[in-house]
Amino acid sequence: DVIDIRTLGQTGYFTYDPGFLATASCESSITFIDGDKGILEHRGYPISQLADKSDYLEVCYLLLNGTLPDKKQFDEFHLTVLRHTMLHEQLVQFYKGFRRDSHPMATLVGVVGALSSFYHDSLDITNEEHREIAAFRLISKMPTLAAMSFKYSTGQPFVYPDNSLSYAGNFLKMMFAVPCEEYVVNPVLESAMDKILILHADHEQNASTSTVRLAGSSGANPFACIAAGIASLWGPAHGGANEACLEMLEEIGSVDRIPEFIARAKDKDDPFRLMGFGHRVYKNHDPRATVMRKTCHDVLDDLNIDDPLLDVAMELERIALEDPYFVDKKLYPNVDFYSGIVLRAMGIPRTMFTVIFATARTVGWISHWKEMLDQPGQKIGRPRQLYTGEVGLEFEHVVERC
Ligand code: ACO
Repeated sequence: DVIDIRTLGQTGYFTYDPGFLATASCESSITFIDGDKGILEHRGYPISQLADKSDYLEVCYLLLNGTLPDKKQFDEFHLTVLRHTMLHEQLVQFYKGFRRDSHPMATLVGVVGALSSFYHDSLDITNEEHREIAAFRLISKMPTLAAMSFKYSTGQPFVYPDNSLSYAGNFLKMMFAVPCEEYVVNPVLESAMDKILILHADHEQNASTSTVRLAGSSGANPFACIAAGIASLWGPAHGGANEACLEMLEEIGSVDRIPEFIARAKDKDDPFRLMGFGHRVYKNHDPRATVMRKTCHDVLDDLNIDDPLLDVAMELERIALEDPYFVDKKLYPNVDFYSGIVLRAMGIPRTMFTVIFATARTVGWISHWKEMLDQPGQKIGRPRQLYTGEVGLEFEHVVERC
């Protein structure tokens, strides 16, 4: 049941729902989730079909525009994305201000925020053309920005975009190509990266998307809003979970240590949680995890990798799914449970996991930002609070306080 509380606010009443467990913050026609049935659809299309039959750029078009493109529309869209993949040389210099050992997410928050200074002449959010070009700039430049964050941390020269490649292939090249060596994109890895991007493209009103919408509701420019979304995504309860999950699997190390960690996860006095398990909305299964599990096996088979962490992951999943604690609390593996292993097998360093998530999610964030601004009567987001402090105290000068 949905109670429309807009009228309640005007009469002085408000609801108290910390964590937004039962509060819809907006209307949206972008992504549908039925957490009890394990359904995720973008603009009506199931995520499994999109992951199987589409590619990331087509999903971008779908999220942004509401329908799948015909061939001509897609070609035009693709061409516009390609037109914006390069960075202004001054922005490339901007990286040099960061410490080499800073987390790539820290660098990314900074450089994406800085885009507003590079495009300050097209930041009028009431102008549809400005909104459109900002969306393209962000989607096109994110792989370049992300790969440069990595290259900078390794001390290697930046690799500029190769627009003859796919979105995923270009990103892999910018990450892994080195001077004087030919880089050939492995099609299995390219397809796996494309699926990872699709699976992370949007997920309705999660913490980072809500952050983008809230920041944008004040009229802030899109680059600042996306930087805010990246900051929110960074946390281990959200986008940082795949990095945290891999750390956890490494810490467990071998199958025989799993019971010890399961016991810790169940212990109320121990803050430890099984990373990659549980979801605020999915209480059946995370449909993205099913695709990711298969992708994980495809990549490991192609690269002929026998990763003991995958054995740990599969056994952990098996034990947890039979354990009454996890069954009763409806805690299932989420998309991050397997994505860390896939990314590791692809040679992506752990600190880049959330950066890749941010790259993929940029289209979701910007689609929500645009949708919000297009809604008639759009208001600034302004939650209320339950005040629990003192009231009406008498002020005394500092010398009179004892
Ligand atoms: N391991 C052990 N216990 C857990 C876990 C877990 N991973 N997740 C939830 N629980 C328990 C909690 O202790 C709590 O128990 P209680 O009712 O006895 O207090 C109960 O399950 C409900 O947990 P909440 O934190 O209230 O659930 P919420 O919906 O707020 O949190 C979240 C969801 C943050 C994803 C949580 O399950 C979690 O921390 N998981 C691990 C981190 C993770 O994998 N995050 C990725 C999410 S997906 C994404 O962002 C792409």
